[in-house]
Amino acid sequence: MRVHRNLRTLVMVMAMALGCATLCNAQIGPSDMKEQPWWKHAVFYEVYPRSFADSNGDGIGDLNGITSKLDYLKDLGVDAIWITPCFPSPQVDFGYDISDYDNIDPMYGTLADFDQLVSEAKKRNIRVILDFVINHTSDQHPWFIDSKSSRSSAHRDWYIWRDGKGQGQPPNNWLSTFGLSAWKFDPTTNQYYYHYFYPEQPDLNWRNPAVEKAMFDVTRFWYKRGVAGFRLDAVDSLFEDPNLTDNPVLPGKDKFGRPNMEEKYNKKLPEMHVTLQRLRKVADEYGAVLIGETWTSQVKELEAYYGENGNELQLPMDLMLTNLPLSAEAFREHINAVDAARGWPTYVITNHDIRRSYSRYGDGVHNDDIAKMMAGFYLTLRGTPIMYYGEEIGMANNDPKRKEDVKDPIGLLGWPLEKGRDGERTPMQWNGGPNAGFTTGKPWLPVPASAQTHNVQTESENPDSILSFYKSVIQLRKTEPAMLEGAYIPLNESDQNVLSYLRKSPTGTVLVVLNFSPAPQNPTFDLQKQGFTSPKTKALLQNQADVADGPLQTVHLQAYGTYIGRITD
Ligand code: GLC
Ligand code: CA
Repeated sequence: MRVHRNLRTLVMVMAMALGCATLCNAQIGPSDMKEQPWWKHAVFYEVYPRSFADSNGDGIGDLNGITSKLDYLKDLGVDAIWITPCFPSPQVDFGYDISDYDNIDPMYGTLADFDQLVSEAKKRNIRVILDFVINHTSDQHPWFIDSKSSRSSAHRDWYIWRDGKGQGQPPNNWLSTFGLSAWKFDPTTNQYYYHYFYPEQPDLNWRNPAVEKAMFDVTRFWYKRGVAGFRLDAVDSLFEDPNLTDNPVLPGKDKFGRPNMEEKYNKKLPEMHVTLQRLRKVADEYGAVLIGETWTSQVKELEAYYGENGNELQLPMDLMLTNLPLSAEAFREHINAVDAARGWPTYVITNHDIRRSYSRYGDGVHNDDIAKMMAGFYLTLRGTPIMYYGEEIGMANNDPKRKEDVKDPIGLLGWPLEKGRDGERTPMQWNGGPNAGFTTGKPWLPVPASAQTHNVQTESENPDSILSFYKSVIQLRKTEPAMLEGAYIPLNESDQNVLSYLRKSPTGTVLVVLNFSPAPQNPTFDLQKQGFTSPKTKALLQNQADVADGPLQTVHLQAYGTYIGRITD
């Protein structure tokens, strides 16, 4: 303790000596003085600003709305919020098309509102993470407007311009992940520009050092304003093969009716790692954390994002987890591999691009118990969890029923196979009143009927609610040392229905038992191999389980039951 206090004093003296240049801005909190970096022990929470809380009645959430809910987030146990893009934007991709990186969109507020949010968050020991859309800008960004104005413009080479193959023929066969070709013809200069996402999102040319400098400076601008790090958007598509080699065509069609393709020459080029490592150097100047939107197909690939010496991303998201079926075996196999890999795991079960976990895993009968089990699962693993707003109250997907109601352009383009992402982006459900208490106006997306039962107010009053369960699990992370430092040790590995593991540290052991099946299960445990002679358990948290404290024997679990106990010898 003493050492820590002295260290803190020293840091503060140094900060004063440095004119507070870096250290004051990096949102230092009391937990920073522990041996581990703060982000290893933090619970992150993704806020989709359009949908979180509307302070001025225009039907769209905003920064002041987020500020007004900081006490709620604090009470939930959140340590850091990641706000998806709130910068000036034509909103074609709801903010992922940025026209000014150094400002706040008036729809969300002002820079002063942002500063206020950061300082109010800091008072509650909550850090603010922003979204860095690194692959592309909006076509309305002044860089692109200049770029397209002439072949010799100052910013021409900031984007990827090429001649077509012939009349009406794009330069190659690459496809946009949002439908149609990845090339758009621009008659002003008779060339095509490349866009991996919507045509309104031209890709930056990361081979141009001027682009790197300008974009790295964007991160500095926000670090100096007190931002604690970035979530890096779409890192996989940063680089393309300069020879524009055609991608191999695969059998079958995608959901937009186009031929399937292997994205061999326009995704995950090795150069991307070099850029991310350089971006990390900038982050290190400010003690900031980098989270990656890292879509991978194997654990090896995920490992690469940490960098060989931990010099790349601190928190590349394990998005593979969001593709697994609800199966004890599938989850065990996956977690065993991620836990054994290099780097600190970063777990996510849903986000603003993915069907909500409540709907994805729900069986229509036990949804609330499954939601609690999922909290009991990924919030107790060794690693950093990133929650998605509304997950803690069991918000369901609310997909549009008719094409004319769709707001997300990919839903319009791909209807009905691809309905877009509106369903997972609906307003946060604060209470059972009109518009779930999100806005006094007309919400930009409709609130589902389930808001009557699944909302913050109702669930706060119910100790058995999903929200109360989330709060308890998060609380355990903060109070049981094994939950933070402990090793992950899988148990009963041939059990097809029950996933169980220990979190074991020199200071304590926690047992987690999760019934991934609709049938009752009664697993027994022998912890001799783990060094216990006559282990006893004490319930820390249970749902659909009834385990008496005392000698550890059989754990009785109902459908999708969860048991978390402290083990002593
Ligand atoms: C990322 C974002 C997604 C966005 C896309 C293009 O995948 O999460 O919402 O549409 O990048 O920026
Ligand atoms: Ca608003």
